[in-house]
Amino acid sequence: MNYKMWWKESVVYQIYPRSFKDSNGDGIGDLRGIIQKIDYLKELGIDVIWLSPIYKSPNDDNGYDISDYQDIMEEFGSMADFDALLHEAHAKGIKILLDLVVNHTSDEHVWFAESRKSVDNPYRDYYIWKSGEDGKAPNNWGSSFGGPAWEYDAETGMYYLHLYSVKQPDLNWDNPKVRHGVYDMMRWWLDKGIDGFRMDVINLISKDEHFPDAAKGGHEYGDFYPIVANGPKIHNYLKEMNKEVLSKYDIMTVGEMPMVTVEHARKYTSEAENELNMVFHFEHMGVDTGEHGRWCDRKMYLPDLKAVMTKWQTGLYNEGWNSLYWNNHDQPRVVSRFGNDTAYREVSAKMLGTCLHFMQGTPYIYQGEELGMTNIKFEKLTDYKDIDTLNSYHQFVEVEGMPHDEMMRYIYKKSRDNARTPMQWDDSEHAGFTTGEPWIAVNPNHKTINASKQMEDPDSVFNYYKRLIELRKKYPVIVYGQYELLDPDNVDLYVYKRTYKEETLIIICSFKEQEVPYALDGYDLEDAEILISNYPVEDDNANIVLKPYEARVYYKHDQGHINK
Ligand code: NOJ
Repeated sequence: MNYKMWWKESVVYQIYPRSFKDSNGDGIGDLRGIIQKIDYLKELGIDVIWLSPIYKSPNDDNGYDISDYQDIMEEFGSMADFDALLHEAHAKGIKILLDLVVNHTSDEHVWFAESRKSVDNPYRDYYIWKSGEDGKAPNNWGSSFGGPAWEYDAETGMYYLHLYSVKQPDLNWDNPKVRHGVYDMMRWWLDKGIDGFRMDVINLISKDEHFPDAAKGGHEYGDFYPIVANGPKIHNYLKEMNKEVLSKYDIMTVGEMPMVTVEHARKYTSEAENELNMVFHFEHMGVDTGEHGRWCDRKMYLPDLKAVMTKWQTGLYNEGWNSLYWNNHDQPRVVSRFGNDTAYREVSAKMLGTCLHFMQGTPYIYQGEELGMTNIKFEKLTDYKDIDTLNSYHQFVEVEGMPHDEMMRYIYKKSRDNARTPMQWDDSEHAGFTTGEPWIAVNPNHKTINASKQMEDPDSVFNYYKRLIELRKKYPVIVYGQYELLDPDNVDLYVYKRTYKEETLIIICSFKEQEVPYALDGYDLEDAEILISNYPVEDDNANIVLKPYEARVYYKHDQGHINK
């Protein structure tokens, strides 16, 4: 296998439109703002934009609660603006993926407005309604954003399921009308010319009809995941979607999948199965979690990260395809998480980029990652806007008694708002994001960390990411090479090898803040070329001394020239 495909050779850039660029001064990013920045993205060299949801939404969960799939969120602009964006992007050779959020809708979607009216409404079975027992919810699941996953609706005296907020009722995928309604909508966008979908929590759509209780105490945050993820008919539904819609277009698809394992992912992404192109798994995002899930400040232990990444690199080789990401709108900034966002911010941001971009898979860059943007620390809880952060604070501090300072420490580490502060374009008042009041405050470090400064500096994180992208276009080994982990137990260094035809790469990344002397047993690096590094390399490649967070990539070609 290992067929060549454009989406394997592409680099995707994720835009969170609310925080990217505001063109009309209302403090909220918009589609016209994105159009203004297409040249910036072209300069960076990315191939595909993934837009987080742009559809009509009451914004209970910043657009992941959709009230009309075929309309644009007012704050973001109009359908004409979207058409212009698609046109401009295509004219510059950039493709566009939309976020497909169809595990749930908003409670303000017309399907739900109808559904809740009466038990015999034609839309009743579009959602998951159950009677409670003895005045209690149908089972003990706790929603992902806190509180029970069932909401009692007085209109008909029954409960509806919402794995996320009460304003995000789950669709009933067992109803063929729901599935075909979604397929029609997907075709409508694809016929407009979009280039694919990122599918929100798509492996949660098939629920076990028995709705068994969750194992833990009940009503724990997201305790339903092990029961709901990869449910009984998930492969039937994805195959049907593929047959009805995806297979008819030359597009790319990536499914966001909590609790997906490599074994599952082989099935979801194998070319023979005709489901999706790749998935987003969360295993590497779990290396620094603790007893309250991600709300903790445990430091990652490098061998754990290496073990997870390696499992996916080897497990999908020739059997599926990986997505590669450190960041997205739900995760803290990687330089603050796995690097050092103070003294070694630039080198560690570059090291992390190197470590990820030389693996096999399609890399995703989240807005601002290419600048080494960092986490935010808001003094006041009220400065946080994310429903998950605010609900979690309420649950842990107000309900369960965790001290305020402890929870704030975790919020500084893990809040989704770390990723959602506005893009830092320049050093002006609101970082060039808006001329108005931004919907969420800008990180004060935009004075030093910003795009306009970095574009001019050849040594910037921006220009380093640009080179990472250029290299991928030039060396097939970066896209198609086989991966092998070297020195697995090394607690400071991530060292791996890629091979493809006559090409070999050795990637050495230091996660340590001190120098590390290093000899790579069994490899002669003396006559190897250095493709990229985040420091000038001064040693002779035989007696290597790695500087703090150093990354270097060695390249060898048997015939002494590059395979084209
Ligand atoms: C995953 C999305 O990435 C996240 O932002 C959202 O809150 C949930 N799915 C619910 O749609």
